[in-house]
Amino acid sequence: MPHKAFWLRCETKKFERRAALTPATSKALIDAGFTIKVERDEQRIFDDSEYEAVGCELVENNSWPHAPTYIPIIGLKELEESDEALPHSHIQFAHCYKQQAGWSGVLSRFYRGNGKLYDIEFLTDETGRRVAAFGFHAGFAGAAAGALALAASSKGEKLGHLEPYKNEKEMVDSVKSLLGGSGKGVKALVIGALGRCGRGAVDLFRKIGLEEDDILKWDLPETAKGGPFPEILDVDIFVNCIYLNSQIPSFITQETIRDAGKNRRLSVVVDVSCDTTNPFNPIPIYNINTTFPEPTVPVEVGAGNPPMSVISIDHLPTLLPREASEQFSADLLPSLLEFPDSRVWGDAEKLFREKLAEAVKVEGL
Ligand SMILES: NC(=O)c1ccc[n+]([C@@H]2O[C@H](COP(=O)([O-])OP(=O)(O)OC[C@H]3O[C@@H](n4cnc5c(N)ncnc54)[C@H](O)[C@@H]3O)[C@@H](O)[C@H]2O)c1
Repeated sequence: MPHKAFWLRCETKKFERRAALTPATSKALIDAGFTIKVERDEQRIFDDSEYEAVGCELVENNSWPHAPTYIPIIGLKELEESDEALPHSHIQFAHCYKQQAGWSGVLSRFYRGNGKLYDIEFLTDETGRRVAAFGFHAGFAGAAAGALALAASSKGEKLGHLEPYKNEKEMVDSVKSLLGGSGKGVKALVIGALGRCGRGAVDLFRKIGLEEDDILKWDLPETAKGGPFPEILDVDIFVNCIYLNSQIPSFITQETIRDAGKNRRLSVVVDVSCDTTNPFNPIPIYNINTTFPEPTVPVEVGAGNPPMSVISIDHLPTLLPREASEQFSADLLPSLLEFPDSRVWGDAEKLFREKLAEAVKVEGL
């Protein structure tokens, strides 16, 4: 019988406080007979002691390269750049299957070490839907950032540095208080409202006190007629949460904004989908991704018109590391309990082998 174990590595990306395994999912795995090793990590939102309390074995920070090769290494983000061969199985988001910069070099490390990659982005159920994704909290945090930008702009200010919140309650309370106690009276439109991100955005707006009628929820039927949509100009915050997979008419354009002149209500656009550099981006009014230190980018609105900004942060769930990790890890748990003997992992390994073969060709190995 194979050894049932996982090794939770630390995340080395700056500001990344999320974790692929939480104390709760670690406990469920331990109860099912797994050994869980956890690298000590100050940056992670969960304390080392929370893992220790449920029976995990704590190991040195960033010590996974020396782990026994039979233990799969689990993490979220890309490994640090290096030429070292990778002999372990890695479960993570690797961002190297869509020919991203450096993709074949990353895969060649697995080839040279005879390791395996199970990319979490491609773990899917029978219907092709991802088994675990961070969407809900991306939408939730994006809507919160939008409300904060609205609060700042109503005082003639620009939204300042965003910091991760300890938990959801702290985020909701802070947004409400900056809006003067409640979001009542604010009007928002969420497009892609039936998806993961969209449901998160709607949830945040409800929790900060918007009236139900002031949360417009659009999905495919409402946009079928084709944009641009003047309705977007008549809300305070527009949150785009669609999954873009084909060319569609723009939802809003620089011209529609300029033409609305002083009558425009729209103050903030949050582009959770962040198809910033996609030639079919349905929100062609900005062209950079914004960041936690600089969360907004101004939109060219025409002289004398009220200001407007876009938030296009592509790692929004990091603003809510605890809840985002808890939901993601709970969704991943049923698959982890079956590792590596189920269709999910079999398909993921097959995809890895296909991508590896492409990389081997490109790298001339
Ligand atoms: N910014 C971030 O930090 C962050 C984090 C996670 C996900 N995302 C991105 O958010 C996007 C949505 O992800 P998701 O997990 O919510 O996807 P999802 O598939 O769960 O939901 C997408 C929704 O958009 C709807 N939709 C698609 N095309 C539409 C259109 N033309 N008009 C109206 N509705 C349309 C779909 O019907 C669906 O309800 C993806 O592009 C994803 O990469 C961003």
